[in-house]
Order: sequence, then structure tokens, then C-alpha cells
Amino acid sequence: MNILIIGSGGREHALAWKIAQSPLVDEVWSAPGSAAMDQIGPCFDVAADDIEQLEKLTLQLEPDLVVVGPEAPLAAGLGDRLRARGFDVFGPNKEPAQLEASKGFAKDLMARFDVPTARYGRFTDPAQAKAFLATLPAPYVLKADGLAAGKGVVITDTLEEAQAEAEDMLSGKFGDASAELVIEEFMPGEEASVFVLTDGTNRLTLPACQDHKRLLDGDEGPNTGGMGAYCPAPVMTPELMARVDEEIAAPMLDGLAEAGHPYKGVLYIGLMITPVGPKVVEFNVRFGDPECQILMMALEDDIVPALLACATGGMPARDFESLMPKLTSAKPAATIVMASKGYPGSYTKGTTIKGVKEAGGVDGVTVFHAGTGVNDDGELIATGGRVLNVTAVADSLQTAVDRAYEAVDLIDWPEGVHRRDIAWRALK
Ligand code: AMP
Ligand code: GLY
Repeated sequence: MNILIIGSGGREHALAWKIAQSPLVDEVWSAPGSAAMDQIGPCFDVAADDIEQLEKLTLQLEPDLVVVGPEAPLAAGLGDRLRARGFDVFGPNKEPAQLEASKGFAKDLMARFDVPTARYGRFTDPAQAKAFLATLPAPYVLKADGLAAGKGVVITDTLEEAQAEAEDMLSGKFGDASAELVIEEFMPGEEASVFVLTDGTNRLTLPACQDHKRLLDGDEGPNTGGMGAYCPAPVMTPELMARVDEEIAAPMLDGLAEAGHPYKGVLYIGLMITPVGPKVVEFNVRFGDPECQILMMALEDDIVPALLACATGGMPARDFESLMPKLTSAKPAATIVMASKGYPGSYTKGTTIKGVKEAGGVDGVTVFHAGTGVNDDGELIATGGRVLNVTAVADSLQTAVDRAYEAVDLIDWPEGVHRRDIAWRALK
């Protein structure tokens, strides 16, 4: 069969890498793809958020499955369009994709299905937002309702700052995305990401991951899209995983199905492990980036039958559960994100990177490309903020982390930055 992947980042490179290993697959196509994905299969120059052109491309190529990497095309309704044309799509339709595209929508659904999360309010009026803030203890959490490229959450220590922030956000700090705000209670605890593959009825939960969102070692500095990740995350004990399934995944997915919106794809549950148990920080409607990169290396099973089953639906529960028999023995994996100096702020593009081939030669290591290109001299250059995901798998997490850093140290890129402490919570 032939599979079309939508997207161009490290997450999609890892999906293409894993999907290409399946004996079921003939061709892996990507749109728009990247220089690295072009090594796996042909790339088509259509932007990942241009759903009209993506629909046209799909009609031309007639893939057996479309795997959508990022959230934007899903939130815009790519799933609905392609399903209406008879294609199988891994990724939810527009309505369930609002779980990520509107934080207020997600909070209302959680309230309706009694899913544990922070107490909240939704606001468009600054005076009401300020009055609600005054009823909460510090620190204060303010979230732009809409998609804001991972930047729409602000946490402040004082009420004055929070109220000023509410004014700023409601008067367009994040454009349309912050025309509405969600203000919520601060949840103390350790974070983890859990990924549930689902066809709307059945569920397969992948090993829990932990991402490192802050730029600098020790979880200091600004928030980023993620500077590294590892799995499995020991904070997610089997008991906690069972609670996440029972208290979060089941009510959300069953509730959506009963409402006539079965969720087909991967549900990303961003969790806070609070003293009273797991609570939802956010939902995303796609794989995490860089969590996907570690999962694709950790999973020894062929992932294509599971992706296909999620897209098509209707598989008996027992068959669905047996799609990835080696799931429970998935190997420890870690990924180190190498980013351009200046990220998540402004950075220089086009700086030369050497040694990536040598890094990929380290035992158990694969380097996924999140933002690279090739210059006129044929040299690898950085073209984005997050640039490389140096990813390793091993029999122990310590060895996976050691291998990943051995590979990172072979990469000669003076304009690159990375964290040295990925997986510190698990290894401490
Ligand atoms: P989000 O985009 O909703 O995942 O928020 C970004 C980051 O802000 C999360 O990864 C958390 O570190 C933090 N955060 C969001 N909501 C809360 C909350 N209610 N309590 C504590 N931290 C939060
Ligand atoms: N790594 C966090 C995210 O994908 O949203």
C-alpha cells in the first residue's frame, strides 16, 4: 500500500522512517515533506495547512492511508474533506480536533464528561476576567483559547501581572487566538504525555513520555515546543496509567463517540500528576513533537496496522488490542533537540551543520530532521528553530541517554544549542 504523510518536521520524519519499515508499505509520500523525508520517498510541494490543495493532491495520488502530522489541517477540516472523498485518514475530523484548537471547547467537554482538570472560566470581557482572577490563589494561568503556536499560555505570580496580562491578551496579544481566554487554577506536580491510538471505540495506550518544554537545563528559561523527551516515564506507574484510561481517555472518547463525533487518530493527553492524581493540562489531536520521535524508535511493532485500524474503525476490541503485541515491552528511548541559537525567539537561518552522518552511526541512534536543508555547496544547513532530533533507543534509559549525547557530541554546529539534562527526573 501507499501512504501519504502530511507535514515536514521531525515528527513527520520519524513517522515516515517508521512507516517505511513496514512490510505492508510500497511508497511513502509526503506533503510538503523535507530534504530528509525526500530520502524516504517523494515529497510534494503543498503546504501542510493548505487543505484545498492537499485534497487535490490526495485525489491525484490515491493513497491507501493519509497520516496527518500537525494540528492545523485537522482543525481546518482536512479529515472531513478526505473522508467525504472516501479516503482513510489517521487524524480526527474538524469537530473533535477543536479539543486542541479551542481550549475553552476542551474545558467544557471535560466538565461535561467529569474529567479531572483545573477549575476554569472562559472570558471575552476584561472586567469579568479580572474579577475571576481575584477569586483564585497565585500563581495564575491564562490561556489564549485558539492555536497560538505553543505560545498562548502565560503563568504569572502576582494578581496585578495576571490582570494586566488578561487585558493584553484580550486586546489581541495573540491575534484572534486570544480574543477569548481560559483562566484556570494552577496545578502543582510533574508533567507527562500519554498518547492513545483510537478508532473512536477502541484504545491502545502507548508508553508514557516526558517532554522538557523549557529551553535551559534544570527546566529554566522560556517555554519552547520541546527540547527533548524520553519514554517510558517512570512517574506514570501502571496504577496511574490505569487511572488515565479510566478517568480521562474512556470518558472523553466514549463521550465524543456518543455525541456522533468518533475520534480517529491519536489523542495526546498532556497531564499534571498532582497530589490527588492525574489531571488534564491540555489535549492535542496529534502526536507530540518530539515525543513521536522517541515512540517511533521505542515501538518494535509495525505501526501501520494500528494507524490503519484507527483510520478505518470498526475492528473488534480483541483484534484492536492485539495490533501491537510488543507494546508493553517497548524499549527505553530518548531524544535531544538541537535548536538554532536564539530559539524560541529570533535566530539565524542557513548555518552549516557537520557530523550528522557520524552521529547517526552511533549504536541505536537515528537523527531526525526538524528543520534542515542543503545549500548550494551541498552542505547541510539549519532552516528552522528546532533543527535536529538526536534520538536513541537502548535496553536501559541511561544507555539510551548516553548514546544520544555521544551522537550529539559528534555534531559540529557552533550555532546550535541543546540541553544536557534530558531525562533527569527519571535518572536522578
Ligand atoms: P499548555 O499549552 O496548555 O500545555 O500549557 C503550556 C504549559 O503551561 C504546560 O506544559 C504546563 O507546564 C503549564 N501549564 C498549563 N496549564 C497549567 C496549570 N493549570 N497549572 C500548572 N501549569 C500549567
Ligand atoms: N512536545 C509538545 C507538543 O508536541 O505539543
